[in-house]
Amino acid sequence: MTSDPTNLTGSGTVFDDGERLQKVLARVGIGSRRVCENLIAEGRVTVNGTVADLGRRVDADTDEVAIDGVAVGVKPGLVHYLLNKPAGVVTTADDPQGRPTVIGLVPLEPRVFPVGRLDMDTEGLLLLTNDGALTHRLTHPSYGVEKEYIAHLDGSPTRAELRRLREGIELEDGLTAPAEAALLAPGVIRLTIHEGRNRQVRRMCDAIGHPVIRLVRSRIGPLADRRLKPGEWRSLTTSELRALETAASESSGTRPGPKRSRP
Ligand code: URA
Repeated sequence: MTSDPTNLTGSGTVFDDGERLQKVLARVGIGSRRVCENLIAEGRVTVNGTVADLGRRVDADTDEVAIDGVAVGVKPGLVHYLLNKPAGVVTTADDPQGRPTVIGLVPLEPRVFPVGRLDMDTEGLLLLTNDGALTHRLTHPSYGVEKEYIAHLDGSPTRAELRRLREGIELEDGLTAPAEAALLAPGVIRLTIHEGRNRQVRRMCDAIGHPVIRLVRSRIGPLADRRLKPGEWRSLTTSELRALETAASESSGTRPGPKRSRP
């Protein structure tokens, strides 16, 4: 056995260009180079859907890298911000009416885009990124990452009304999927939904006769942060990004199975 785990002798296809895979994985915070080498040696890392050998080189700009079938954002320059959106700010890049936008609350460079949207009057967590692949997965119609809202209502819902929220409500664009609904205090509920229809929470609450007075998104899948103040943003940590990638692949049902390049 060689003492150099990246020794390529007899280890299959060698890609001369690009950076070593373990170096790229270590750079984005997966672990030390040795940890990353072990992941590769265990056959848990794929490049463009094919299990990678030790010594594999990748182009971090174009190659799709995944660990255990979950995509890892390795492209240099990718940013992922978690913003606590205040009320009165619109979730668009440009507003023809000149209202303040969420883009004005985060760094202008590199240019980022919101993932999904919150109504102007809704507060709480919003993801902004220039990671098109992740945005695509999170906004795909089958996207089912949980979104949790705290809704302050006009009046307090009865148990039967909460049950209606849980079991599904007939809205003009169809029946809502099963949701979780809990009464936190009189007139305050926590509603967890998997869909992302326009003004969905407000319309569901209207339908049970308790219009929303204040709406705050408190969680997006694994992402929550009670210390982030309205108007503040921060970058996702590496483990948060991994958890989000995992949640997106699990919920969309598109998690790819690795193909072996050779037996
Ligand atoms: N549901 C709503 O009604 N509004 C939002 O902003 C988000 C979810």
